[in-house]
Amino acid sequence: MSFQLTEEQEMVRLMTRDFARKELEPEAARRDKEAIFPLEVVKKMGQLGLLGMMVPVEYGGAGASAVSYCLALQEIAYSCASTAVTMSVANLSTEPLLKFGNEDQKMKYLCKLAQGELLGCFALTEPAAGSDPGSLSIRAEDKGNYYLINGTKVFITHGQYADIINLIARTGPDKGSKGLSAFIVEKDTPGFSIGTREDKMGLRASNTVELIFDDCRIPKENLLGKEGLGFKIAMTALDSGRIGIASQAVGITRACLDESIKYARERKQFGKTISSFQAIQWMIADMATGLEAASLLTLSAARKKDRKMPFTKEASMAKLFASELANKSAYLALQIHGGYGYLKDFKVERLYRDARAASIYEGTSEIQRLVIARNLLKDQSYGLYD
Ligand code: CAA
Repeated sequence: MSFQLTEEQEMVRLMTRDFARKELEPEAARRDKEAIFPLEVVKKMGQLGLLGMMVPVEYGGAGASAVSYCLALQEIAYSCASTAVTMSVANLSTEPLLKFGNEDQKMKYLCKLAQGELLGCFALTEPAAGSDPGSLSIRAEDKGNYYLINGTKVFITHGQYADIINLIARTGPDKGSKGLSAFIVEKDTPGFSIGTREDKMGLRASNTVELIFDDCRIPKENLLGKEGLGFKIAMTALDSGRIGIASQAVGITRACLDESIKYARERKQFGKTISSFQAIQWMIADMATGLEAASLLTLSAARKKDRKMPFTKEASMAKLFASELANKSAYLALQIHGGYGYLKDFKVERLYRDARAASIYEGTSEIQRLVIARNLLKDQSYGLYD
């Protein structure tokens, strides 16, 4: 399998690297410390087309491949993992419209999302429905020419700054995952408000809030697809989202590796640089080997998406492997830095905290294993190829 990048993919990577090093890296530590969402930088990313990268040109997007998207996201994550999750969720938010929206909805919302005029978020999780979104309870009652929404969503990435919300709500009370529907909600809709803003361990420059819907009236034309399709729409969006989180984890791991090599070359103990000790070399070797594997898994899932092949299993494999690796790499990078790594003055301290979320959101590692195993077990042709 060859992963020679095209000229365009290489250009996207370099352009994003340059942007991230200039616009994100210098302020990343301060924004983390003060929990500041970089709204102005996010707006610039929107204007550069980074928030709707895979939206086709006819809807105002960059029409980029999923491979280009992964490369760009890795570069953003390398400099600021918080902004990488913002970018990932903004791109994820274009998927329901792109795949299930009608022409009017696409013209009204998708074009503006793609060009950075609007920021989108994705509202699935509820206080009692995390890994099991099929049990979610927020209600969308059909009232004739509108839906009436009541309930609360939690852990919503950049919900406070989003102009439109991709909302998954229950239209059929007794039908489990079949009773869910997807809606576009505009932030100025009466009855919609922002609740608690979460104070997180890591990814502190990303915004995570509660969304409250209190007798919120949504016009009928804001239903995506048809009633009952909400779970499928959410799962389809999450397939792509998981490639994004895998890319974020790859970016974090690369940052861990670079920081480790730099520090190991400088730090002297027992009269030598610590890079000359085999214990340190092995940690570096493990990180680098994992990085190569995670990167290939992620690009392979993205390439399947580009080729319009099924990629649910591959996205879960990439997300599982890359996010677990990011956690291990952050642990090793901090170990290499010793006591200094435990201080806020060093980037690895932030990477350690930021990596932790990757194996939890957009489906925990346990959920990814479930998705992988279910897909393998239902594939009747498995093992019959040779
Ligand atoms: N694509 C399309 N359809 C899919 C699908 C997919 N990837 N996965 C499942 N479906 C369909 C199934 O085919 C099935 O349809 P039929 O009944 O017509 O056959 C239907 O959906 C129900 O599927 P399951 O029975 O497999 O559903 P389940 O209730 O057992 O759940 C699950 C499966 C994989 C555990 C799923 O619930 C899941 O992914 N859970 C994790 C949720 C998650 O990732 N949340 C993240 C929140 S968003 C976030 O974190 C963003 C952020 O801000 C960072």
